[in-house]
Amino acid sequence: MVETEEKHSKYFKNFNCWITDNTIRFDNLTNQRIIPEFINSINRLVYKFGHRTIILDFSAISKVFPFPAVPVSAYIQYFKEKEQIEFQFKDLPPYLRNINFSNPKTPSKSSTNRYSRILDKIWTFNNGDEVNLLVNGIKSSIRKSIVCETGILDAIDWGLNEVMDNVIQHSGINKGFVMAQVHQANKSLNVCVFDYGLGIYNTLKNTEYNPGNAIDAISLCVQEGVTRDKKVGQGNGLWGLYSMVNLNGGHLTIISGKGGLNFNQKDNKIYSYQDIILLNNENQATNINFHLNLDKNISIKEALKGYELIDLFVESLENERGQFIYKISEAASGTGTRQSAIAIKNEILNIQKQTQKSITLDFSDIGIISSSFADELIAKLIVMFGFFQFQNTFKLINMNSTIQAILHRSIGMRFAETYNNEV
Ligand SMILES: Nc1ncnc2c1ncn2[C@@H]1O[C@H](COP(=O)(O)OP(=O)(O)OP(=O)(O)O)[C@@H](O)[C@H]1O
Ligand SMILES: [Mg+2]
Repeated sequence: MVETEEKHSKYFKNFNCWITDNTIRFDNLTNQRIIPEFINSINRLVYKFGHRTIILDFSAISKVFPFPAVPVSAYIQYFKEKEQIEFQFKDLPPYLRNINFSNPKTPSKSSTNRYSRILDKIWTFNNGDEVNLLVNGIKSSIRKSIVCETGILDAIDWGLNEVMDNVIQHSGINKGFVMAQVHQANKSLNVCVFDYGLGIYNTLKNTEYNPGNAIDAISLCVQEGVTRDKKVGQGNGLWGLYSMVNLNGGHLTIISGKGGLNFNQKDNKIYSYQDIILLNNENQATNINFHLNLDKNISIKEALKGYELIDLFVESLENERGQFIYKISEAASGTGTRQSAIAIKNEILNIQKQTQKSITLDFSDIGIISSSFADELIAKLIVMFGFFQFQNTFKLINMNSTIQAILHRSIGMRFAETYNNEV
């Protein structure tokens, strides 16, 4: 139904949301213009009309993008915490429920361990320990969900750590929001990190760099060595991420204060945004989005001018003889389902790409595996690599005779199926 201006003439209409009494109705959560319009709408309801309870109506929402969903979710938290506004959510779609849109969670050891699902969720973090839990958790989930080219997992580690650490170091509020999404179909990763703190212009304006406006401040912060305070940082974080994104042909968008820049390597262009509406001068906010192509490798050495990164999880698998041992029993998603085998296979392939070494799959403490698990994990790997290459790349140890028998049968069937179809 098309709603006429006449019908709503006593109400207030933005481009992407309506205000009716104390209700804000979202027309979409895909257009980034919803962010300033939402800020305007809440400011109007809270400061002009004195409402303390606000209804957010999502009945018209059918599609959501992380950006603007993450900043909108964060601003809701801001008004809850700073102004004690009560929000009621009307017709919140299942997707928004699933990503914790109305109430982002802080991470704990159990919610971000090797077995939890933490992609596609909005998280909030308040200190370095929580950053650490989230970075490791997100990386571990990615490792299990898709095979990444060489250098990608290191780039993800760098990007998440640096951008989230910046929130703790520079935003002045020690509170940030993050969401990471893997798109299986186009093999890409999107990360959105947001804080409603000081903003980049505010932190750089009284330094030797003296930027004239928000866009100048953003273009400065991705340059090597630019930091608000040399005693605190070295100015490597965003420069390193920018270099990695460039080498990968991905894109990086930084919106902070009244301006924004989108560095897009795909079409080799830089887009700028200006005159963005602020919450207020002390909360100019910083939003960083980066997009990586997971199937295109990144030379970390080249991106960081010779510097190399160490992956502590992968290091922890290495024994004193320099062998990489992957204990199937510790993968813990079980040894019964194809789904579990796919997660383990992705993890193993990612470790192999990172180390470029052979990986030992250790079956100790495993009594039995299902034949679909054996097929998905081992038989398909043999077909994928070819028998001789498989032998060079993987070693299987500590399999009991039952598992061996199940595996033999699965391999036989997989080979018959693959090679019969080729004849
Ligand atoms: N979330 C943020 N809020 C406010 N200012 C920020 C934020 N992120 C970055 N900045 C500004 O951008 C500058 C450059 O950030 P960058 O991460 O490249 O370097 P750094 O954090 O200063 O040092 P390093 O990352 O090497 O420890 C920061 O010094 C700060 O002034
Ligand atoms: Mg930094």
